[in-house]
Amino acid sequence: MKVTVVGAGAVGASCAEYIAIKDFASEVVLLDIKEGYAEGKAMDLMQTASLNGFDTKITGTTNDYSKTANSDICVITSGIPRKPGMTREELIGINAGIVKTVSANLIEHSPNTIMIVVSNPMDTMTYLVHKTTDLPKHRIIGMGGALDSARFKYRLAEALGAPISDVDGMVIGGHSDKGMLPLTRLATRNSVPVSKFISEERLAQVLEDTKVGGATLTKLLGTSAWYAPGAAVSGLVQAIAMDLKKMFPCSTLLEGEYGLNDICIGVPVVLGRNGIEEVVEIELTDAEQAKMNESAEGVRKTNGLLDV
Ligand code: LAC
Repeated sequence: MKVTVVGAGAVGASCAEYIAIKDFASEVVLLDIKEGYAEGKAMDLMQTASLNGFDTKITGTTNDYSKTANSDICVITSGIPRKPGMTREELIGINAGIVKTVSANLIEHSPNTIMIVVSNPMDTMTYLVHKTTDLPKHRIIGMGGALDSARFKYRLAEALGAPISDVDGMVIGGHSDKGMLPLTRLATRNSVPVSKFISEERLAQVLEDTKVGGATLTKLLGTSAWYAPGAAVSGLVQAIAMDLKKMFPCSTLLEGEYGLNDICIGVPVVLGRNGIEEVVEIELTDAEQAKMNESAEGVRKTNGLLDV
């Protein structure tokens, strides 16, 4: 199993680190345009191998896509991250050009790859890869919901005063502050609905805190987060590599599911060796469907800024 991660910044390096620590891939290639940067990160990470007990080989390259040849999975993290006060949508001008070039270069050397898109605005960047490449839709996956769901579970555990392993919950919809749809109705503590334990007001606060999860960190860190994004990507990569048939909310091209067409947005999918093996349609209430439609409108507005 060969995995390429493009962008050796904080998110890309965290992806490589978590993938390596889980020790299921034979090789991770880190690629960056900044001279020597990916090589340096790869060397530093390799020097943790004996300490952390993994055998995954990590190599780095400065923009030499031939080194990424025959990757089973490629992860695109490249582009500029947001600064405090910025929305993910404001990054489109610069990131669209980068994602278009990077995805074309990757596919040239790995035509059979599964592509995971992390760069923001993520749903629109995932749509861009659909529009500008020949990859089939089950091999294009946008990473957002897995991260947003991890942030939701963190906030739920905090509100419940329970360990995170007791909590389950999922976030669907667009990966944006306004578009996220944390499914509070379906969230549980050990299979008991969370509404049994916390008030409606507290649950509404959890929902709001989840939606601005990324923005809260951007304000604290001065740039966007990397540990949880990296861990979320490694979860998707592992599910594909090990053919786990694991369910995550991911951005995928919808063709009628959830009443939506010609859009990439977060919905539950089953991930296995073929990429997206199933789109899971859960029954939404009218209010949830209305929020999903509103979220889709937001994503479409950003898609409208693309030159495709
Ligand atoms: C975040 C970025 C990765 O939510 O979109 O932290």
